[in-house]
Amino acid sequence: MCGITGYIGYRDAYPIVINGLKRLEYRGYDSAGIMMYDGENIHLSKTKGKVSDLEKITEQEELRKAGKIGIGHTRWATHGVPNDTNSHPHFSESGDLVIVHNGIIENYDTIKKELTSRGYTFKSDTDTEVLINLIEEVKKNEGCKLGKAVQLALNNVIGAYAIAVFDKTKPNELVVARLGSPIAIGVGKENKEFFVASDASPFIEFTKDAIYLEDGELAIIKRDKGIKVRKIETDKEVDADIQELQLNLEQIEKGGFDHFMIKEIHEQPKAILDTYRGRMLPNEGIIKMAGIDDNLPKFLNADRIIIVACGTSWHAGLVGEYLFEDMARIPVEVEYASEFRYRNPVITSKDVVIAISQSGETADTLAAIKLAKSKGAFVFGVCNVVGSSIARETHAGAYTHAGPEIGVASTKAFTTQITVLSLIALKLAQEKGTLSKTAVNNYLQTLQQIPNQIEKLLEIDPLVQHISEVYMHATNCLYLGRGFNFPVALEGALKLKEISYIHAEGYPAAEMKHGPIALIDENMPVFVIATNKGHYEKVVSNIQEIKSRSGKIIAIVTEGDVTVKEIADHVIEIPETEEAFTPLLTTIPLQLLSYHIAVMLGKNVDQPRNLAKSVTVE
Ligand code: M6R
Repeated sequence: MCGITGYIGYRDAYPIVINGLKRLEYRGYDSAGIMMYDGENIHLSKTKGKVSDLEKITEQEELRKAGKIGIGHTRWATHGVPNDTNSHPHFSESGDLVIVHNGIIENYDTIKKELTSRGYTFKSDTDTEVLINLIEEVKKNEGCKLGKAVQLALNNVIGAYAIAVFDKTKPNELVVARLGSPIAIGVGKENKEFFVASDASPFIEFTKDAIYLEDGELAIIKRDKGIKVRKIETDKEVDADIQELQLNLEQIEKGGFDHFMIKEIHEQPKAILDTYRGRMLPNEGIIKMAGIDDNLPKFLNADRIIIVACGTSWHAGLVGEYLFEDMARIPVEVEYASEFRYRNPVITSKDVVIAISQSGETADTLAAIKLAKSKGAFVFGVCNVVGSSIARETHAGAYTHAGPEIGVASTKAFTTQITVLSLIALKLAQEKGTLSKTAVNNYLQTLQQIPNQIEKLLEIDPLVQHISEVYMHATNCLYLGRGFNFPVALEGALKLKEISYIHAEGYPAAEMKHGPIALIDENMPVFVIATNKGHYEKVVSNIQEIKSRSGKIIAIVTEGDVTVKEIADHVIEIPETEEAFTPLLTTIPLQLLSYHIAVMLGKNVDQPRNLAKSVTVE
């Protein structure tokens, strides 16, 4: 939901800011803008469209040569349609102050009316332009410096923000602040240069030292001098904690693939291995997870586990429900975070809440966590992004270690989340004695085979491409699965919808006869997951029902399957594994299928329309 970036130092700011925007484009791509200061004048350029459009319009501009300080923005529109005027950065009324903003100012309308009555005029429809004028008004009235004005103004706003503000009258500093939206500050050598960004990717080649602002903090960054961090509410100075980044450049580049999504699909064997590496010793039957080990009584005495998440992470949560109930015999409820947070749910201190989020920044999941904590529940996070808001807000957690996921459509996040949930379920089963020692060892040994099995499974790509060609012009698709693979059906449908814009629905296979079967005719492709364990015969019956209504069947089966092969139009085989781990395999062909269909249709796979990678607004 919008990416912001900035630079202050001794290098030319333009390439740093523009490249930073390219790396942050996954956060929003409705419009892009940049401001440079050349020591005398502010140069500002912005446009509807992508960062590449911005680059084109700045080609001949002085702005490219201007200055060692700059800020930039890539937008996912909230207030105001995506057009040039609503694009960031925004000027204040005097033209002295410039802002970029990620988030939403909820009480902007009240503030706007008040400022209008004091003579302010507004060019855009954005809440951000209201905020920069509020800062200007406070600065004027209080006669204070920019940092103080930002702090006082922010105490009057309701909402979420990550902002970077520049003041032409004090051109050797940038002021940044956050509440609910992330900000990382890269610290260059000897305090000679600083980088600001929504995540650390824009400055990874310049410095490994980063400060992640906490919610409610503001930083005044002065060229050659350093950073002062203060609490927005109290103005109290706090020590800035400099962390060493683990990220490297290679992880955030496409590495020879055409798109991040396909690169990330192919990264899954390694990502899953990285997720369980050091956490299990299959032959000894040992599972070590610090976040669980340190809080075992909480889990073992829990009345139930409530899983909160959104989108793909919610689908992983559904797989988690099957895993925890089946292996550890703990009742589980899986909730959309966005519903849970407003539902006045019954939660007690005997509940354990597991929040799942790739980005660790999803606003609804964050709010659900805060609600659960306020009611006394123990909250455990399963996040990918290290140091993210959710990772910090939860009592304990486990990282997925999938590495950066840049494609907007989640792939490796899903399979690594399931891997973490599998380990937790097995650990709890072991502790509770709901699975025998042999069964746990068996599961661990089987899990250990998954990375190689995925590696081999990825070789089916040509077959999936062929199937994609056959069905790329479908306007509707059904995805069916049962048990552990019902969430995979949901996830398969979501993948197709979000990147190819083909309407698709996932259903539990047996639910089909309660309505969706009416949709089936010779034009309806139905993707059915029919692995050999669990409810195989039942799913075969469902396939027969589709066949007798002339539906087209694309089945995902276990190697060696005979029955479904005879009925289905196309068959994709996955290797043999435990039923509980089949989602780790069955999801792979569905990811590939969505990818190829979207590419064949000429869609922007990594940046599908209307979406953004981390949804930091509700
Ligand atoms: O970062 P999170 O896992 O919290 O994100 C949740 C959803 O926004 C995300 O999974 C979304 O549904 C993806 N676009 C799915 O591919």
